[in-house]
Amino acid sequence: MAVDYQPPECLSKPIEVPSKLLMGAGPSNAAENVLRAGSLPLLGHLHTEFVQIMDDVKQGIQYAFQTKNNLTLAISGTGHAGMEAALCNLIERNDVVLVGINGIWGERAADMANRQGADVRTITKTAGENFKMGEIEAALVQHKPAILFLAQGESSTGVVQPIEGVGALCSKYGCLLLVDTVASLGGEPFYMDRWQVDVVYTGSQKVLGAPPGTAPISFGPRAVAKIAARKTPISSFYFDMNWLGNYWGCDSQPRKYHHTAPISSIYALREALALLANEGLENSWNRHRQCRDRLINGLAKLNLKPLASDHAARLTCITAIQVPDGVDWKSVTTHAMSMRVEIAGGLGPTAGRIWRVGLMGQNATDERVDRVLDVLAESIKSSTTAPVMGRL
Ligand SMILES: Cc1ncc(COP(=O)(O)O)c(C=O)c1O
Repeated sequence: MAVDYQPPECLSKPIEVPSKLLMGAGPSNAAENVLRAGSLPLLGHLHTEFVQIMDDVKQGIQYAFQTKNNLTLAISGTGHAGMEAALCNLIERNDVVLVGINGIWGERAADMANRQGADVRTITKTAGENFKMGEIEAALVQHKPAILFLAQGESSTGVVQPIEGVGALCSKYGCLLLVDTVASLGGEPFYMDRWQVDVVYTGSQKVLGAPPGTAPISFGPRAVAKIAARKTPISSFYFDMNWLGNYWGCDSQPRKYHHTAPISSIYALREALALLANEGLENSWNRHRQCRDRLINGLAKLNLKPLASDHAARLTCITAIQVPDGVDWKSVTTHAMSMRVEIAGGLGPTAGRIWRVGLMGQNATDERVDRVLDVLAESIKSSTTAPVMGRL
């Protein structure tokens, strides 16, 4: 039998993947052993050996989130899948969901919550700022939400949101706290249990340094109780935590097939979590902070300013840098890319106004900070005619 369409010509050639230094907003470069783990032989999704690896991953995620929560696992999907899973399990139609918007991630959470039929309320801050405790409390009093969403690391603006104390406020006002740590976990201190965070998710491809495709997530007891008390079914079968919790061995029932786990991605995630566990969270937090400080010092020598004027509001993992007048941001990132170094532009409200430099996981080293500073300086020099830089 003849086919209607011929095989695509492009697939007759070998795949070509250049090696680049990924100093943008993610993914970051993965360690060799993490990449190697992804090429180990496949196992079936319920084979004993694979189930053991899932158990290791679960413990690694508990450590990374600093939690003893049983309902802790990796969603098969990227950070957005973690966000969607958190929201669709928690939200029932007309639940009031309060979303902190100081960049694109609050906007996306509000969009997703809206699609779940929530009554979405927002508190907003200009790009480069975070929410103060008094503002959060006032909004909790005003809106009486069932759920509060905050991004610990707002990667579109390079801002960190203090989370300590917010969980206690949420408990006081009968609200669940949901935190996005996609751009912060491993680079900023985070204590799920100590800070009374009810749900948290992250992504594999930033500080954890695994390939994109898995999203660690954890639900605390109050979140589990809200899911158990639902009057309506969870809108998504794929993200249903009752099914996923069973598949990940979080209940007392035998594990059942729900979906075929991305086997190779789970291997890679295990090895990335092992790297973090071996380094120790405190060391990882310090390393990221020191590299961020080195970057900020280097930027000052180039007369470049971070977007966040308050040093305490600056995220360790991703620094947003204001594009100076007279400089075309795009030519700079294009020039950097020609040197095989990725520097990201802005996103959403910051598009065209900033560059974003990520120092995440394997890329948070003095040597890589110096490299990205040199590339940035050279790229700005080659892209501008205006004498904007002292050192350039
Ligand atoms: C804070 C934050 N949340 C969510 C996401 C979405 O993650 P992904 O692109 O892996 O879906 C990102 C990605 O950059 C992020 O920085």
